[in-house]
Amino acid sequence: MIETKLSFIKDVKNLKNPVVLFAFQNNGEASIQGFESSEPLKALATMVKLDGFKGNDGEVLLTRPKNDTPFERVFLVGLGKKEDFTLDTLRRACARALKACELLGLKEITLLAPKAGKAFAFDLEFQALGEGIFLGAYRFDRYKAKSSDHKGLIEKAHILLGDNSDSDLLEKAKAGLKRARIYSEATMLARNLINEPPSRMNPEQLAAEAKQLAKSGSITVTIHEKKELEKLGMGAILGVGVGGAVPPRLVEMIYKPSGKAKKIIALVGKGITFDSGGLSLKPAQSMETMKDDMSGAAAVAGVFQALAELKPNVEVRGYLAIAENMPGGRAQKPGDVLKAFNGKTIEVLNTDAEGRLVLADALSYASSKKPDVIIDIATLTGACVVALGHLVSAIMTNDKSLSEAIINAGEQAGERFWPLPLVKEYQQDVKSKIADLKNIGGRRGEAGTIIGGLFLQEFVTDIPWAHLDIAGPSWTDSDTPYCPTGGTGHPVRTLLRYLENL
Ligand code: BES
Ligand code: ZN
Ligand code: ZN
Repeated sequence: MIETKLSFIKDVKNLKNPVVLFAFQNNGEASIQGFESSEPLKALATMVKLDGFKGNDGEVLLTRPKNDTPFERVFLVGLGKKEDFTLDTLRRACARALKACELLGLKEITLLAPKAGKAFAFDLEFQALGEGIFLGAYRFDRYKAKSSDHKGLIEKAHILLGDNSDSDLLEKAKAGLKRARIYSEATMLARNLINEPPSRMNPEQLAAEAKQLAKSGSITVTIHEKKELEKLGMGAILGVGVGGAVPPRLVEMIYKPSGKAKKIIALVGKGITFDSGGLSLKPAQSMETMKDDMSGAAAVAGVFQALAELKPNVEVRGYLAIAENMPGGRAQKPGDVLKAFNGKTIEVLNTDAEGRLVLADALSYASSKKPDVIIDIATLTGACVVALGHLVSAIMTNDKSLSEAIINAGEQAGERFWPLPLVKEYQQDVKSKIADLKNIGGRRGEAGTIIGGLFLQEFVTDIPWAHLDIAGPSWTDSDTPYCPTGGTGHPVRTLLRYLENL
């Protein structure tokens, strides 16, 4: 993890070269940010050779001052138009700056914190800045023979504040960077769990990783193994797991604050360590990324790692519904009927709609403990990727204020959610002729994401509940500014922000 150092400009004797400066694009011209109170930097701003740099979002330019200044080189990084600025603009810009310095083989990066375009709280702004740096440095290269093909890795980030030593600003910046570190480490834990090859990160290993989190005194972790699942009557998770070589598990995690909890929040994560589709086998290409089908569970694990440090005043209960979905001589068959923890029976017509099955048990178990809120997180439907793509998750809920709180937290965290309706009239599509429910809807997969949500709703009692279908954003097919190809760790930061906003 990169070490960070915060200083006021006037306290800095020898600024490391080069220094990163951020600029908005204003009427087609770059407007360099953050200098207002700093004479040396104000002077520098007028001396920088812009070489056509306009300050557009995504633009990066390495340039030199025209005259002699303490700086040999300057990185200009564009923030785009001021009116379009969001906290995520800053995350992306910081990550780009970091990459640019890395390419030069630098070990340290120095950047001047920009003045935000809108009235964001300073601590949120510094958190976004820190997340851009920490997450921008993430890579998953433990399986490369030569551990890194990068020229250099940044070890230290110097972050410069304005000139007048404002102690309030310094405190907020410190608090923001501390949160950035915790949120980023939680995100990176989720990324690592997802990116690990699926035969390693199997149900046993994923449960063991969750168990690790009980190191902290405020967290307890219980692993319910196969025998226990049988005793509890969790026929759905058992049915999904029966084809796998490694049996399924339900992991139950509890974080308790030291004082009285304001609320009890349950987080339920889909943890299919590999989704082959089972006997309703997926085509080869669709399987390539199916190690990411445990992203919901990985996100919950990430959240718990952070809770131990953030210590919010809420009780959080995590449920990881873990299984591998495999074909084989013992695998469940289309037409089989399962009985879930709440007693409802399910006709399995497509073994590839397995997420809703493992969640059926986990959600009804979570509901039986009567928390104040339940949020489930699942890579549930390919239809969601079709509808919203890789940048937006779907959110479905029985409580509008809950979904609004999550969407709002997502905006602060740089993760996007869009509501889909739980259309009552479609509920009949998941009714079975021979059991209470069937695990797929109408023939052509119409409203597939909503059908998934309606099926899950059968397993929550009248507790405020939100279902996050993260099938798109859980994974990126290409390198993005602060996430390389692979698992993204979405929506760890949103969930943390939601819990901290309570
Ligand atoms: N894990 C998949 C959903 C998925 C697809 C996640 C693509 C990420 C990217 C899920 O278990 C699945 O296979 N769902 C089926 C449901 C269908 C059979 C009703 C799907 O989307 O095709
Ligand atoms: Zn599936
Ligand atoms: Zn799946």
